[in-house]
Amino acid sequence: MKVALETLDTRYSLPQPGLDPRWLQDALAQVIRQVDVMLPRFTTTFPAASATEGRYPAVEKVDWTEGFWTGMLWLAWEVTGDNKYRAVAEGLLDSFEERLDRRIKVDTHDLGFLYSLSCVNAWKLTGNTRARNLALRAAELLYQRFNATAGVIQAWGDLSDPARQGRMIIDCNLNVPLLFWAADETGNQAWREAATRHLAQAARYLVRDDASTFHTFYMDIHSGKPLRGDTHQGFSDSSCWARGQAWGIYGFALSFTHTGDTTQPELSRRLAHYFLNRLPEDFVCYWDLIFTPDDKAWRDTSAAAIAVCGLAELLKQLPLTDPLRPAYGNAITLIMQNLHQHYFADPQDGLLREGVYNFGRNMGINEPNLWGDYFYFEALVRLSRVWTPYFC
Ligand code: GLY
Repeated sequence: MKVALETLDTRYSLPQPGLDPRWLQDALAQVIRQVDVMLPRFTTTFPAASATEGRYPAVEKVDWTEGFWTGMLWLAWEVTGDNKYRAVAEGLLDSFEERLDRRIKVDTHDLGFLYSLSCVNAWKLTGNTRARNLALRAAELLYQRFNATAGVIQAWGDLSDPARQGRMIIDCNLNVPLLFWAADETGNQAWREAATRHLAQAARYLVRDDASTFHTFYMDIHSGKPLRGDTHQGFSDSSCWARGQAWGIYGFALSFTHTGDTTQPELSRRLAHYFLNRLPEDFVCYWDLIFTPDDKAWRDTSAAAIAVCGLAELLKQLPLTDPLRPAYGNAITLIMQNLHQHYFADPQDGLLREGVYNFGRNMGINEPNLWGDYFYFEALVRLSRVWTPYFC
């Protein structure tokens, strides 16, 4: 593999006691208390993508993020067994159905985020056939975004818009699991092939030789040739957007379960080394990995939480004899302890303070965001029990 494998910073080799079960239980109990604070306000609406001055406005189906709220409700149900969370999550299926019926904000690859965390999980956890059918309809829409010549799923916008055609993004690594799941459910191999080809193109063009990532990359949909990489939310086209790198770490680790391609966890590892080697003293990344402490840039706690889930997934894929397993475990511990101690939002809305949604557009800067909350919760669940990911 030509992608660089950086030597992992020695900070991760220092022996760590690990997260003890009581710490995890306390951290989970705090999360459940915060979900309970939010629950009465979000039974028929959703928290917005990011908070405003620490509080989430209520929205309907307007964004790529509504599934993170239902994802948190299903996690809360799994952790507590309390049916109040399940009832709200099931009630919100109406919104996910109406979105598909009326084609509201479905011209996006984010269908995976939306339907894996609202419908695939509802089906897997409770056998809800309505949820299964909605997830299959979403998978079909996602499949329609695949361009066979370019071999990629178009990220955003109308499929006939030349300015948007052939643009793939690293975030989509978490959306292709919807296609793998749908292929397994139905036997439709076209869905599997699209997901597999997209991941191969992502590995080839979104990952740079130094193991950093472009946020987005354009392919020519007429010739299939690669055009250029650029950014949408990072500091610059040549820098490495921290959340994009985290989507890559998690997504390439997850995809191995569907493809059996051992280069994917290896890629996840290489992206992880690049990410971990650029963390500041408290192990919580700046919103772009180009920044150093002198830059005094904002953190993105959501990227930190996603990276932890990715590392936890990577550990599931690596052989028990892999010599770097303890170092990855240490990295998880260090990031989680710092998130919990310094960035947990209690008693505000949401779970994690200090996320950055989109710096260039002045959106959600230094605020909780819904995916950061979801992945922090998912990380705690992953670390405290045997758990089957919703993205699979
Ligand atoms: N997938 C969009 C984001 O990470 O902001």
